[in-house]
Amino acid sequence: MKKSIYLIGGRAVGKSSIGKELAQHLGYDFLDSDRMITERHGSSVAEIVQREGWNAFREYEKQVLLDLVGKESCVVATGGGAILHRELWPQIRKHAIVVWLQADLETLAKRIMGDGNSTAQRPSLTGKDVCQEMEEVLRERNPLYKETADCIIDSGAMMVYDAVREIDQFCRQFEKKNKEE
Ligand code: S3P
Repeated sequence: MKKSIYLIGGRAVGKSSIGKELAQHLGYDFLDSDRMITERHGSSVAEIVQREGWNAFREYEKQVLLDLVGKESCVVATGGGAILHRELWPQIRKHAIVVWLQADLETLAKRIMGDGNSTAQRPSLTGKDVCQEMEEVLRERNPLYKETADCIIDSGAMMVYDAVREIDQFCRQFEKKNKEE
């Protein structure tokens, strides 16, 4: 069994779309933490936040991530805020390679505004407009992504399959290096 691969990064950076292709390419299971939350609670992210608040959503997100710790040979697309559960990542990293997908602010904002899923999946975090919110949120989170990632991919400038290939190549080298140590 091989280490799982966790995709982290900002909203709409491509964690789910790249994750699905990567899982198929590797013959791994694909798991999406947001989808697991919405299926487990029978509500969209927006409905959960509206009904119970962000703290409840984060608790559900933490529980899903805890349930996934230790699973091998999976690709896990995490929500943009999963990085905030700081206490979980040392455990996750024992069994997984963590890949930070990056894209510039303008690309992310455009994708959020252009994605029909955003209303249900990405309720406002701050009440501010998308660009300002994204800038503020990433300023807080980028250092957390950086300290948690084994690999950084500028997926905003790549086709999905190019990102898949680059991640696959990194993971092969990463596993080979770890075996030699
Ligand atoms: C969030 C990102 C969303 C979803 C929720 C919270 C965040 O997932 O988990 O709206 O805090 O950045 P995506 O990163 O897939 O959009």
